[in-house]
Amino acid sequence: MRIGVLTSGGDCPGLNAVIRSVVHRAVVDHGDEVIGFHDGWKGLLECDYRKLDLDSVSGILAQGGTILGSSRVQPAHLVDGVERARGHVAELGLDAIIPIGGEGTLKAANLLSEAGLPIVGVPKTIDNDIASTDVTFGFDTAVGVATEALDRLKTTAESHQRVLIVEVMGRHTGWIALHSGMAAGAHAIVVPERPFDIDELAARVGARFEAGKRFAIVVAAEGAKPRAGSMEFDEGGKDIYGHERFAGIARQLSTELEERLGKEARPVILGHVQRGGTPTAYDRVLATRFGWHAVEAAHRGEFGMLTALRGTEIVMVPLAEAVQTLKTVPADRYAEAETVL
Ligand code: F6P
Repeated sequence: MRIGVLTSGGDCPGLNAVIRSVVHRAVVDHGDEVIGFHDGWKGLLECDYRKLDLDSVSGILAQGGTILGSSRVQPAHLVDGVERARGHVAELGLDAIIPIGGEGTLKAANLLSEAGLPIVGVPKTIDNDIASTDVTFGFDTAVGVATEALDRLKTTAESHQRVLIVEVMGRHTGWIALHSGMAAGAHAIVVPERPFDIDELAARVGARFEAGKRFAIVVAAEGAKPRAGSMEFDEGGKDIYGHERFAGIARQLSTELEERLGKEARPVILGHVQRGGTPTAYDRVLATRFGWHAVEAAHRGEFGMLTALRGTEIVMVPLAEAVQTLKTVPADRYAEAETVL
């Protein structure tokens, strides 16, 4: 069998572990050939690739980023490129393509699969918002990075009696905010799923100071928004791919809370540090399992499917189902976090 693998969308710790696992399982156990497309879908559309053998994946298990490179591709570009992709798949004699990616990549994968290309998807995102899988690799690493940052920020916040508003990634969902906030014992968490009321938030933070505490930490997912009419809010704009470019929830909340509470406040944006560096052991294991099962699915001819974690098992789910909706933070999970605040 000849397999093409690619990584697309925002990078994520664990991508290299998937690539390595695909190559090991395919080459060592099945005697397959594997090629890696460069820079995501762009590589498939432009027929830009290299052969992946055991040497080329040696030592990459613990490496962050992706040895293949990644890019975001405009959906329209891909729709126009379906025939080009089909031509390259035929030309290269590929029996399977394994795209590793998040929401946008999987939508593109589904599009190509519906056009008849042999696709087995692997979900990835630090945001943990792919609906069909209990967890995506990268999430555990990102939560760990954010939690460590929050722990560190507490000591400086306390020294200066400040309110720190810490912005973490999560444009549509608040998983990283919820988990890192819970892990670090943040005093308030705001997420996109539940627009916040600025008066309630200020009262919550203010109550801490009134109780004699010297600082407060608010964790804000970058996509969090105030309830309509609750405060003046600059929504931000769109980038060249039509993705939201956030105006900076931390900066806006910092100004607002400082005014309302009469306490010094500072915004802290963790940004891409959450996506960089070595994956945790959990993420390496999950990524390795996904890669292994993707190759097996390809050998069974199970195309148009996606690897997913359900409980402790890896299962295959239809790509078409996986791209329907995002996995959002349920109200009861938020309630659990609030109880311990
Ligand atoms: O999808 C993962 C993610 O990290 C989001 O949480 C974040 O909004 C986005 O990527 C940032 O993307 P970029 O690296 O393109 O700015």
